[in-house]
Amino acid sequence: MSKRSPPTQLCLEDILFEQGFGTRRICSGLVQQGHVSVAGERVSDPLAMFELDGLVLRVQDLDWVCQRVAYAVMHKPAGYEVSQKPKHHASVYSLLPYPLRQRPSKGTQGVQAVGRLDEDTTGLLLLSDDGQFIHRMSSPKHHVPKVYEVALVHAMEPSAVQRLLAGVVLDDDPQPVAAAAAALVAPTHLRMTLLEGKYHQVKRMVAAVGNRVASLHRSQMGELSLGDLPEGEWRWLTPDEVSGLTRKRK
Ligand code: URA
Repeated sequence: MSKRSPPTQLCLEDILFEQGFGTRRICSGLVQQGHVSVAGERVSDPLAMFELDGLVLRVQDLDWVCQRVAYAVMHKPAGYEVSQKPKHHASVYSLLPYPLRQRPSKGTQGVQAVGRLDEDTTGLLLLSDDGQFIHRMSSPKHHVPKVYEVALVHAMEPSAVQRLLAGVVLDDDPQPVAAAAAALVAPTHLRMTLLEGKYHQVKRMVAAVGNRVASLHRSQMGELSLGDLPEGEWRWLTPDEVSGLTRKRK
């Protein structure tokens, strides 16, 4: 995770470029043609200097709060693939505004999703262009608890919940995987917390106890939840939310 760097002033053209509004030439043109306001005031000098972090811009019709490093959360809808090259459905990246999609890369290939959710899974998806953050959040060693709301095809017996907690063997690994927490909210609604993020892990664990997932929603990662963020929308994470996610866990 990038340490908070001291404030640095940058010229408006460079700020727009860093934020993904296009090449330096395009960014300079946007300013000169009067398409950019800073904190509500139109600025027409591309070389005017500003502090980047937290700067509030309006670029054409888009309001934009500048962030040196991108840490964002999306409420993923069903029917979107978490892939830059989707095969059968639209990409989640198509739900992001164009500056986030075309931010210049800083060691990562621009803004990337942290881990994956299946095309039919909804819920909390982190996005960032901080390679260390992405690596840390995806690493099984970091143990970020991920909470899933699982709608089941068949009512689940409490004994099946006990098996999920004790550990079940999946087909690609002889080591059992166990839920960190699991409880029935209703006979066909399981709430399950996982520390790993293996391929189709929830669906395969539920199948291992003789049931099937009807629909799946990730409601929480660490202490972060979606709150009232509507489906298909995204927002920046606050610095406290980023440090909450990256703090050391046992
Ligand atoms: N487990 C699954 O099976 N699918 C997801 O999308 C996430 C976790």
